[in-house]
Amino acid sequence: MATLTINGKVHTLDVPDDMPLLWVLRDVVGLTGTKFGCGIAQCGACTVHLDGAAVRSCVLPVSAVAGKKITTIEAVGATPAGRKVQEAWRDLDVVQCGYCQSGQVMSAASLLAQNPKPSDADIDAAMAGNLCRCGTYNRIRAAVKHAAGEA
Ligand code: FES
Ligand code: FES
Repeated sequence: MATLTINGKVHTLDVPDDMPLLWVLRDVVGLTGTKFGCGIAQCGACTVHLDGAAVRSCVLPVSAVAGKKITTIEAVGATPAGRKVQEAWRDLDVVQCGYCQSGQVMSAASLLAQNPKPSDADIDAAMAGNLCRCGTYNRIRAAVKHAAGEA
């Protein structure tokens, strides 16, 4: 049994302690915006926020997240940084196939919430763990800067 606060709502769930948060979000709670890519913390598709920090939900057992505030792509637009990132993504037409993009948005929103004016190096460091098979990296970097009001 786990009690989780997801997007501001408390859920009491009958799940095993070692079930990864990604499975809980998608298969138990029905929030499918967070994606499964690799399952081994190598691609970033499953990125969510834990108390505002970007984390890989595919390797995070549900027992490790009780009592923390979980935010997913479905609700990140309600945060100031998340809203700016989503607007910038639309303005610059970042998305290609889209599969990696909820993870990209979550990493970018966490970065900007903690560092509103990131340098190129800051952006590269924050986004390095989010892979994109479509190669949208240049647009992602431009959109992070746009969201930060720098371009
Ligand atoms: S699915 Fe979690 S990092 Fe790839
Ligand atoms: S937009 Fe297709 S994998 Fe990133």
